[in-house]
Amino acid sequence: MTTIGILGVGHLAGLMLRGLAGSGYRLVLSPRNAEIAAQLAGEHGCEIADSNQALVDAAEGVFVSLPAATGVAELARLAFRPGQPVLSAMAGTGLAKLQAVIGPARAAVAMMPGYANAFRVGPSILHPGDGFWQPFLAATGPVIAFDDESQFTAAATFGAFSGASFGWMAHVIGWLEGRGLPPDTARTLIAATLRGNAEVLLREDRPLGEIAGAVATPGGISEMLLATLADRGALAAWDEGLDRVLKRIGG
Ligand SMILES: NC(=O)c1ccc[n+]([C@@H]2O[C@H](COP(=O)([O-])OP(=O)(O)OC[C@H]3O[C@@H](n4cnc5c(N)ncnc54)[C@H](OP(=O)(O)O)[C@@H]3O)[C@@H](O)[C@H]2O)c1
Repeated sequence: MTTIGILGVGHLAGLMLRGLAGSGYRLVLSPRNAEIAAQLAGEHGCEIADSNQALVDAAEGVFVSLPAATGVAELARLAFRPGQPVLSAMAGTGLAKLQAVIGPARAAVAMMPGYANAFRVGPSILHPGDGFWQPFLAATGPVIAFDDESQFTAAATFGAFSGASFGWMAHVIGWLEGRGLPPDTARTLIAATLRGNAEVLLREDRPLGEIAGAVATPGGISEMLLATLADRGALAAWDEGLDRVLKRIGG
């Protein structure tokens, strides 16, 4: 049984542990935030290491879900074994920066939405396509590996897109509630619509422009809504926001 150390037991770690249930990995948690570590260990049958260094020593591979601002400094304090696989999910920590602080170990970087991974439908991106981490991430959803780091970094903006999509969904659901829909009905309607449309993109072989054209009748209500959003700068604002995120994470 492969042993993975989870360094940093907060929100992401909790969600990944839910998705990893039954995947066959032995999971060892870092001890900081003893309350959460004990709760997650109890829920998911994990062990808790005595220290971060004890976790690194006990694990074949180390999954890093430490805070983005302080995680690199913590990694620099630890001693890794030559070739030991270390996967960081910390936003904005590039491969070179990670490799520099883990010395002889083998660095890889990833990004995932988090919550969807708990339900094993969260896509993960991975750079490089390390064979040790492919099956680990695949236990929580589809894995897309990138050889090219600049492509990986651009793709990693999807972490922000994913989080922001909850705000967008909440906004539209709130609008429907304001027009009298019961909250559960509004939530189900929007979620099922987006799930259905996502399935179209995944299953239909036609170019996206053709699909979009087929659903937006000229002069119809979809065209009206899209034109309003474009006129008010809402679509351009997505570009601006993603550009800002890309700059923050090192693109
Ligand atoms: N949340 C997501 O869905 C998501 C998705 C993709 C990527 N990420 C990335 O995952 C990382 C963690 O995010 P999060 O949302 O899970 O944050 P979080 O809830 O704040 O979790 C971070 C955890 O790390 C612990 N920690 C801090 N310093 C530590 C140290 N020196 N040694 C051991 N543990 C330490 C914190 O303990 P204390 O509570 O005691 O401070 C906390 O429990 C971030 O870098 C983020 O970019 C998050």
